[in-house]
Amino acid sequence: MRKLIDQIRSLLTQNQVYKSVFRHGYPDTDANRALVMFSNVILHLHPVRVRRGALKIKFTWCLGGLTFFFFILLSITGVFLMFYYVPDTRRAYNDIKDLGTVIYFGGLFRNLHRWSAHAMVLSVWLHMTRVFLTGSYKPPREFNWVVGVILLVSTLLLSWTGYLLPWDQLALWAVTVGSKMGEATPIIGNAGPFGPELGFTVENDVAYVLLGGTMVGQSTLLRFYVLHCLGLPLIAAVFMAVHFWRIRKDGFSGPL
Ligand code: HEM
Repeated sequence: MRKLIDQIRSLLTQNQVYKSVFRHGYPDTDANRALVMFSNVILHLHPVRVRRGALKIKFTWCLGGLTFFFFILLSITGVFLMFYYVPDTRRAYNDIKDLGTVIYFGGLFRNLHRWSAHAMVLSVWLHMTRVFLTGSYKPPREFNWVVGVILLVSTLLLSWTGYLLPWDQLALWAVTVGSKMGEATPIIGNAGPFGPELGFTVENDVAYVLLGGTMVGQSTLLRFYVLHCLGLPLIAAVFMAVHFWRIRKDGFSGPL
């Protein structure tokens, strides 16, 4: 029995996925207890060592930091916009127009929000390219690369859901095209490979869930608004916290 338990334990723990998440063994010796302390974010916030060369601006170009800065700016300006914008198809377009003409500093905040969104998408791509080119995705940072991919997808989805909110022609057709792509998705889309075989139709596939119906309308606007202002920023914030924690714990990958 003991042998079987040992075998199961070693099967579960002796693989790259487990080792990229848990960096230490059982706290059964002093060395293991110290490792548990050093790799725990609450017990030991700072990394044990930071290489001097890794702090050089020309290594990271601060692209991750810039992405985070744009996220904070977007959150602040976004809250301001929420005071004036109502996600109702009869009002949305005019509310956005009023920001530019009626509300004090409305145009400034809207433009700060819009341009920061473009800048965040650009900087997150550049950051990922830098991480790739410097080989910083290699062990022990492969777990953080995966967290990064989730952050990239959240950033793109934030950008896409925000695009619908002005409720103009550009927004409507962009989301219509996007949802058609959803319909053509393998397995979960009604027009994608294996979708119809699995019982998906226009009334129960992924595009239906996303739009809240079969075409872009009031339910879509409300869904995108909730996702844009609440769901996706929360997901991004939680994964950013994990991302920063791993950066501190893995240490920068930069030169000595
Ligand atoms: C909202 C998006 C993101 C934010 C706010 C963010 C933030 C950061 C920050 C502040 C750093 C420290 C170094 C630097 O500034 O370059 C960093 C490092 C890192 N990021 Fe991101 N990141 C994001 C997305 C991504 C993506 C899309 C990937 C890859 C798919 C990624 C993978 C990594 C890795 C592996 C490191 C460690 C790099 C090293 O040690 O040299 N991150 N990130």
